[in-house]
Amino acid sequence: MADRLFIFDTTLRDGEQVPGCQLNSVEKIEVAKALEGLGVDVIEAGFPVSSPGDFNSVVEISKAVTWPVICALTRAVEKDIEVAAEALRYAKKGRIHTGIGVSDYHIRYKFNATQDEILERAIACVKYAKRFVEDVEFYAEDAGRADNAYLAKVIEAVIKAGATVVNIPDTTGYCLPGQYGEKINYLVENVTNIHKAVISTHCHNDLGMATANTIQGVLNGARQVEVTINGVGERAGNTSLEEVAMIFKSHKSAGIVTNINSRKIYGVSRMVSSLMNMPVQPNKAIVGRNAFAHSSGIHQDGVLKNRESYEIIDPKDVGVDDNTIVLTARSGRAALKHRLHILGVDLEQEKLDKVYTGFLKLADRKKDINDDDVLMLAGKDRTETHRIKLEHLQVTSGIGLQSMASVCLNLSGVRRCEAAAGNGPVDAGIKAVKKAISNSDMTIQEFLIQALSKGSDDTGKVHIQVEYKGNMYYGFSANTDIIAASVEAFVDAINKFIV
Ligand code: KIV
Ligand code: ZN
Repeated sequence: MADRLFIFDTTLRDGEQVPGCQLNSVEKIEVAKALEGLGVDVIEAGFPVSSPGDFNSVVEISKAVTWPVICALTRAVEKDIEVAAEALRYAKKGRIHTGIGVSDYHIRYKFNATQDEILERAIACVKYAKRFVEDVEFYAEDAGRADNAYLAKVIEAVIKAGATVVNIPDTTGYCLPGQYGEKINYLVENVTNIHKAVISTHCHNDLGMATANTIQGVLNGARQVEVTINGVGERAGNTSLEEVAMIFKSHKSAGIVTNINSRKIYGVSRMVSSLMNMPVQPNKAIVGRNAFAHSSGIHQDGVLKNRESYEIIDPKDVGVDDNTIVLTARSGRAALKHRLHILGVDLEQEKLDKVYTGFLKLADRKKDINDDDVLMLAGKDRTETHRIKLEHLQVTSGIGLQSMASVCLNLSGVRRCEAAAGNGPVDAGIKAVKKAISNSDMTIQEFLIQALSKGSDDTGKVHIQVEYKGNMYYGFSANTDIIAASVEAFVDAINKFIV
């Protein structure tokens, strides 16, 4: 009989820590419900002590979600644990995830402590968390670079203290798959009470080995994997949920099953990408735009004769529907609603009507509307709460011409128009906005324009990072006019700090 592997999704905690990927509480609930529909076993909903926003998200997700365990992260600090327990009060099944660094790097340099002191703190935090919830997961941070004998001692002690799950993170993404597998095997063989807890993997992708390490961890005895949708996460990201789920689905001989409804993978992937403004690389395994695109003649011929000649996964199994109804200016609300539903977004009539109006406008400018366009439209009214709105933008630019821009902003109901020159239309537009808000103290640190798919009529996505008084703020927009998208993204960013 196959062994059950528990899927612990940390998109809303480790994934959401990525600069520029922050979600508001409403968006987090949307993602949490989609994760529940996908069949994940555990949702790590946040780090409650880190901010009131995180605290509130854990509360609201606990109320909104029924089946998965809701998990809250803490440091090995009593206050953190108390706040996490409070945030979990509405969870039908709540788990506290507490822990401490166990590698020499962490023990000596981060904590200026000894191995014995860290061992005591590890035991104490688990015992303290046990006062509030039965289900306590312990993370041994930087276990990937920790000494195996010391790691085993800590794991044995925390299980004795009541840990139900023991997480062995490769925090820096350093391990080779063989090393990580051996580490898990070492714990299985040397921790006398290991059968009383579930071993969890938590791998980062700094060397591109997160999925390989996770698989080795499972093959050596781990029965929970900590993953994120699209592999989002700090630096190079975390292990991606869709890869692990499809690896075990494709390799039945490994004898591992998950509760993931693979047909929902694509929709959830697009939803997370769109809400987090984090594009999925086109060649990303399972969910990338090109994951099932056969371009060479030999491959196309082979697939037409028999799909399995070149495909190991049926695209439909991950929710990629090749019979997709093409959305054009003549499509009705029902077609749009259906497409959004496939992508995991169910809108109320009023919101659907608004999205449909935006859809018709876009369809007038663009022949085929793709999934990214549709999701972009569905998320568009996030700017409705902006205090500063861009109402008008006109630019002149060209070879041998000085670029000029004029803008009109609505500043909490007051219309202000300004014009400026720049070394290009984007520069001119941003200078005109700065003039209109009478503030030019901010600097642009990063500016990224990306086409959603292909064609000169495509929608361009713009991500912008603005520094203001030592803090970073992120802005985003998407528009078929990339100059407009750039200035809109700048306005999106300044709305986060101009009061
Ligand atoms: O990477 C890591 O070690 C973590 C822990 C906090 C679980 O994210
Ligand atoms: Zn992590």
